[in-house]
Amino acid sequence: MSSLTNKRILLGVTGGIAAYKSADLVRRLQDAGARVQVVMTAAAQEFITPLTMQALSGNPVHTNLLDPAAEAGMGHIQLARWADLVLIAPASADFIARLVQGQADDLLTTLCLATPAPIAVAPAMNQGMWRNASTQANVDVLKQRKIHVFGPAAGEQACGDIGLGRMLEALQLVEATASLFVSGSLAGKKVVITAGPTREAIDPVRYISNHSSGKMGYALAQAAVEAGAQTVLISGPTQLAAPERVECISVITAEEMLTASLQHALGCDVFIAAAAVADYRPAQIAVHKIKKNADAESMLLELVKNPDIVATIAALEKKPFTVGFAAESENLIAYAQGKLTRKNLDLVIANNIADAGIGFNADENAVTVIDKEYQQVLTQRSKQQLARDLIALIAQKIAD
Ligand code: PMT
Repeated sequence: MSSLTNKRILLGVTGGIAAYKSADLVRRLQDAGARVQVVMTAAAQEFITPLTMQALSGNPVHTNLLDPAAEAGMGHIQLARWADLVLIAPASADFIARLVQGQADDLLTTLCLATPAPIAVAPAMNQGMWRNASTQANVDVLKQRKIHVFGPAAGEQACGDIGLGRMLEALQLVEATASLFVSGSLAGKKVVITAGPTREAIDPVRYISNHSSGKMGYALAQAAVEAGAQTVLISGPTQLAAPERVECISVITAEEMLTASLQHALGCDVFIAAAAVADYRPAQIAVHKIKKNADAESMLLELVKNPDIVATIAALEKKPFTVGFAAESENLIAYAQGKLTRKNLDLVIANNIADAGIGFNADENAVTVIDKEYQQVLTQRSKQQLARDLIALIAQKIAD
């Protein structure tokens, strides 16, 4: 059964081109078992008609604060009390600003003030408006008030610009909404995890890679989703099936992993880098298979440095709680501490890959968890159990 079964979602639609996606969102929420009532602002009605939303939701659409007919049915205070969640998608820059100011000059803002239910917003606007200091300050205020902010995503915008500001897709919003109703230590949080190896092509048939199976990262994704988090797994090539309810993004190279990480880590709460990323890649990928030179006993391959994914995420202005792994075959603790500082991590999980039976491709692992103040040894156990223990520890740290 979905965590949205019988949940009452009051969907607020504000004025923006992404309002057309709200029609699909109504259907998707209902498919997941939710009951949906729609409230539209005057600007929203310029983009999509109340009739469309009424036909899809199967309920009258609420548009006016001072409408005697509507108040005779389900009045605005009743509507505010009815909701298990108020979800505003799309939430325009103007609506976000009005929500921050506590205005009550239309039905939707009034409902937001009156409701005892949690509120979530899915921002959608031009990238310049999103980056504007006023919008960013407003979004910070919403977060301080424990209002959930879903997205936005990056990409091409209706106006032709490219950047952050696109509303999340309907299915992503349903997942994010569902995660709010799951109980667990990471309920309502978004966790992004990298896993597996990367492959760096030399020519069309050969590549540089490593022995990471992805087992540790996939186990972490499973544990995160069990703890109630909306979970994104960015995986290099592995033989594993993605855990259920986890959004899995498949990548091959370190550069692709970085692009996907930047796209999904913005606005996430926790970023865990379990992937074994190739530190270097061939400077050039040969177009044709490199032929063996019968006269040469050796060949030189020029390598260039790959971007450091976890360090890039940890350097973001709005940095998530960032966790790295350190796979070391000597000086485990000292090298791991070096990575903690150098990569600006909040936590590093040190693996001794010289120990037989743990680490790369094994079913079990043993680690030392290190942050600036403390170290904790987690002795050998299955990667599934270790993942649950690590997720519990991370949940505790971000709650502190
Ligand atoms: O996949 P399995 O078979 O289950 O094995 C699990 C594991 C041993 C691969 C895993 O537990 C592990 O230790 N992963 C990190 C391996 C590694 O590449 O460690 P590192 O010390 O080289 O890198 C340190 C940290 O920086 C890691 O979090 C890594 O993901 C990250 N990194 C490294 C290089 C790079 N270019 N970008 C990165 O983000």
